Amino acid sequence: MRRAVYPGTFDPITNGHLDILRHVVGLFDEIIVGVLHNPAKHPLFTVDERVEFAREATQGYANVSVASFSGLLVDFCRARDASYIVRGVRNPADLQVEMQMAQMNESLYPEVHTLFVPASPALSFVSSSLVKDVASHGGSVRAFVSDVVNDALVRRFGQNGANAEG
Ligand code: PNS
Repeated sequence: MRRAVYPGTFDPITNGHLDILRHVVGLFDEIIVGVLHNPAKHPLFTVDERVEFAREATQGYANVSVASFSGLLVDFCRARDASYIVRGVRNPADLQVEMQMAQMNESLYPEVHTLFVPASPALSFVSSSLVKDVASHGGSVRAFVSDVVNDALVRRFGQNGANAEG
């Protein structure tokens, strides 16, 4: 059984994340999207909302499931008997950080290896942080997230963003 965890904060899940998933979905028998529950990071959406968005966006894949986790990623991988971690890489800065995390994870739990997946050029500038920033100022992020996430962002910030005056 080839099982992988695709971990992240997913605050919220974007088309960039889904593009990475699309590239690896055929490589594994099962992929668990692991949504980090870390209130100290003060995410915009609750962990339940982030899990729900990820479930909705991945419902077309029979071998993808979504679960939240807290604590160490390697402990989640061990508990789920996953031997691969999938991470998307958008640019050299990402790679630098991801290499360090992959090496730390592998030294904590040698049974797990990280698979880096390059982002598609058309989506390599998309991040959850930028999506939230644009939406908070009333910009359209329809091209970068699922309809469900877009609707949730519009509900959260309003059609004109959080800083609309008057
Ligand atoms: O989407 P993100 O925020 O880039 O994902 C980062 C994530 C969740 C993969 C990372 O912060 C993580 O694994 N956190 C769990 C705690 C942990 O295992 N820390 C040690 C990592 S080397």
